[in-house]
Amino acid sequence: MIAMESQYRLMYRLGLTPWDQDTIPTELTQMIEGAGAQPPGLALDIGCGTGRHADYMASRGWHVTAFDVSSRAIEEARRRRADIDWHAVGLGAPSLDPVLGRLAGRVTLVLDIGCLHGLDTRGRAAWASTVNRVAAPGARLLLRAAPSRGTGFITPRGIDPAEVSALLGPEWSRAGHPSHQWDVHVRSILGAPPFRC
Ligand SMILES: C[S@@+](CC[C@H](N)C(=O)[O-])C[C@H]1O[C@@H](n2cnc3c(N)ncnc32)[C@H](O)[C@@H]1O
Repeated sequence: MIAMESQYRLMYRLGLTPWDQDTIPTELTQMIEGAGAQPPGLALDIGCGTGRHADYMASRGWHVTAFDVSSRAIEEARRRRADIDWHAVGLGAPSLDPVLGRLAGRVTLVLDIGCLHGLDTRGRAAWASTVNRVAAPGARLLLRAAPSRGTGFITPRGIDPAEVSALLGPEWSRAGHPSHQWDVHVRSILGAPPFRC
């Protein structure tokens, strides 16, 4: 996990961030404003980068918590919008624990646009435990992940839908596949952990 995290930190420092576009993907706008959109609630953006997706969700009434391992990216995100709970921290870090504790079982939308597919095995386990800890019964996960493509040296190693499902566990089902690399998973209303304030 450290190697990929360091690569991302370096890329933000050098301004080499080709993923950091101005547009909001239609897969996200559909989920927030399209037919069958959920009412605004709590959202978590994992690996939020400079925060434009979190910003967009907050502008549509969502209460967003967002974190990224790059402090440079989070500095920029904070300048973008003050009413989002931003955290410059990586998955699995102890300082993320109280944040996740406050969200436990309450988040109705989890967003991961391009973070999971670059994580190593340990990072993926931390990702799954984060998602399962915060997600409310019936929560949706919107994921953009490139398919599995090997070593993960320089480029993200990728992940296939079957591995995502295995990581999330049996309470989740793959509910949609809006386009190439995009998936929606939904947590069952039954069998989720008890709601905590
Ligand atoms: C491809 S970028 C996408 C950023 C953002 N979601 C976007 O679409 O603009 C992947 C992001 O994941 C972050 N990231 C990578 N590993 C991470 C980790 N272990 N914990 C938190 N963030 C991580 C990177 O710093 C980077 O901002």
